[in-house]
This record gives sequence, C-alpha cells and structure tokens, in this order.
Amino acid sequence: MQAITVLPGVADSLRLENLQQPPGHGDLLVEAVALGVCGTDLEIIAGHYGQAPPGREQLVLGHESLGRVLRAPGSSGFDAGDMVVGIVRHPDPQPCPDCAIGEWDMCGNGFYTEHGIKALDGFGAEQFFLPSAMAVKVDPALGLAAVLLEPASIVAKAWEHVDRIGHRALAWQPRSVLVTGAGPIGLLAALMASQRGLDVHVVDRNTTGLKPSLVRQLGATPYDGMSALGALAPDIVIECTGAGAVALDVMRRIAPGGIVCLTGVGVDNPAIGVDFGHLNRSLVLGNIVVFGSVNANRRHYQAAAAALDRADRGWLDRVISRRVPQARWREAFERRRDDVKVIIEFGK
Ligand code: BGC
Repeated sequence: MQAITVLPGVADSLRLENLQQPPGHGDLLVEAVALGVCGTDLEIIAGHYGQAPPGREQLVLGHESLGRVLRAPGSSGFDAGDMVVGIVRHPDPQPCPDCAIGEWDMCGNGFYTEHGIKALDGFGAEQFFLPSAMAVKVDPALGLAAVLLEPASIVAKAWEHVDRIGHRALAWQPRSVLVTGAGPIGLLAALMASQRGLDVHVVDRNTTGLKPSLVRQLGATPYDGMSALGALAPDIVIECTGAGAVALDVMRRIAPGGIVCLTGVGVDNPAIGVDFGHLNRSLVLGNIVVFGSVNANRRHYQAAAAALDRADRGWLDRVISRRVPQARWREAFERRRDDVKVIIEFGK
C-alpha cells in the first residue's frame, strides 16, 4: 500500500512509504484514481504548514481527491464502483455552533481537522478509508476532471458568500468581476463568473501560453499585470494570488458598493506601506466589503459539482495541464512553466 507522506514542519521530508493498511477511517474503502496538487501541499512540503495525526510524526499528503469505491456497506448510500471525492475538513468534535450545523468551513474554535493538511491523513495513497458522511458522489462522465471538485468547492463558497453580502443592498446587480491570478482557483472563479453572465476580467503575470488562452476560451479578458487594468473598477473582485500588494490594489480600485473576496493565503509583507486612514475612508464612503473565504462545506461541493457539469469538458481537461503517472509521482511536486493544475494518476 503505497502512500505519499511528509513530516509536517520538516522541509523536504516528502517520500513514498509502504503502509500496512490504507490510511484514514470510515465505512468506505476507496481506490485512488487521481490526486490534485495545490499550493498548500507545497507549503506543507516546505515545512511551513501542516500537522500530523495525533501520536504520529508523518502525515499522508493530499486533499484534492478522486477515487472509486471498492467496498461500501449497504446502508451507506454508496455502491462499489461509485466515483467519489472526499470532503477535506471534518467538524471539530466539540462541536462549535458552526460545525454543529454542518458549516465546518466556518469553524469558530479552530478544532476542525483537514485531510492531508491538519491532523488527518490525506488522499495521497493507493487506497484510503473515508466516512460516507464525508464523501461526495461525482458524475462519472466528468472523468478525471472531477478531481477539480475540491478546488471548485472553495470557489463555490466564495461566490455564495459574495452573493449573500451583495444582497445587503436591495438593488444589487453586479455587472463586472475582476479575478486576480489565473491559477486553478482563479480560473474556476472566472468559470463560475462567466456562468453567471458577468463581464469577466482576469489578471495574471503570465502574458502568453495556457493561462491567457484558458481565460479567452471562457469569453473573459486576460490582462498581463495590474498596471494593464488601467481604470477598471469592477463590482466584484475574487483575489486569488494571496499577494499583499495585489490585495491592496484591488481594495483601491473596487467600484462603490463593491465586494472584494480574498481567497489566497499569502505571506507577511510588512514592507507594503499603507495609508490605512485613506483606505479606511474610501472603504467607508464606498460601502465596500472586503472579506476572506476558506474551505467549503457539503453545500459548496454540490454547487461546485453543478458548475463542473455545466462547464465545457474540453476547457476543464485543459485546466489539468500535467498528468503525472504514479510511478513518477515526485515530478508532480515540481513547479513547471505553464502548470495550471498538476495531478497524479494512480495505477499508472
Ligand atoms: C484547502 C482547503 C483548506 C485550506 C486551509 C486549502 O488548500 O483547499 O480545504 O481549508 O487549504 O488549510
């Protein structure tokens, strides 16, 4: 039973281990089909983030899953052969008021756990156990593109919260959205924006290649760098770079009544000089909301599944820019030019 493991807090401890039995717990035994790699995995590999399960030093990595059910009890609602994705976050056992109603994405006390990230083994193993309560069935017609469900759930939550905030104004009718960063989260945010009929603008450092081409394919406008945006003042911004300077720029350019959603986990940057008095005034006078959004609950996975079903299959397949066979798994964690979403294909 091969599994990709790391020692959280120890840089470059990534390795392939032979485990005695599949990691995890739960009533479903799942065979891995694909695993997506994201920036959070790279942070964990660098030793900056992540936590092993209690009493252990190593953590099975991976939280963007796609698997096939091998074994399921009759009462679980799942059958052998079903294609599934695991929900990343588990509610805290206390539970806090949010976790108690299934909104573990809003966990208020921080005692939640996350597969492959925080105190729960991940999905980077040939087989794993998963509780049926934390599994989402996916349409087999999506093929490998279903591995995009987890990142899409993050974006579905961001959009749900933008909508809820927007409706504080009775006449709210946004027309334009700016997405900063054309990685998987940014591209999926642009996909959902285009499905809403908005005028979509996407800015990224990459001026040529796959990213601007994927943006154009959505009918959206690509920009190469913040200065290329000129006087653009969008009604909504979905910030997906996590870069402090970009976040500050969008807070200054958002239209009155606008909403800025921050989704990127950035690093500290005390060097950015901000006149917060000035910014404070413009946010107040413009009725502007800036909010952060992380993780997703089951409702968001369902909304994400609907968005992926409505998307162009060819476009989704292009977002998965590199497929690494299990035998060469380590290459999936190397960053290459023109990478968008890199996945490991198990059994290859
Ligand atoms: C995952 C989320 C998780 C977050 C913080 C992201 O990469 O997609 O599910 O909540 O990291 O750990």
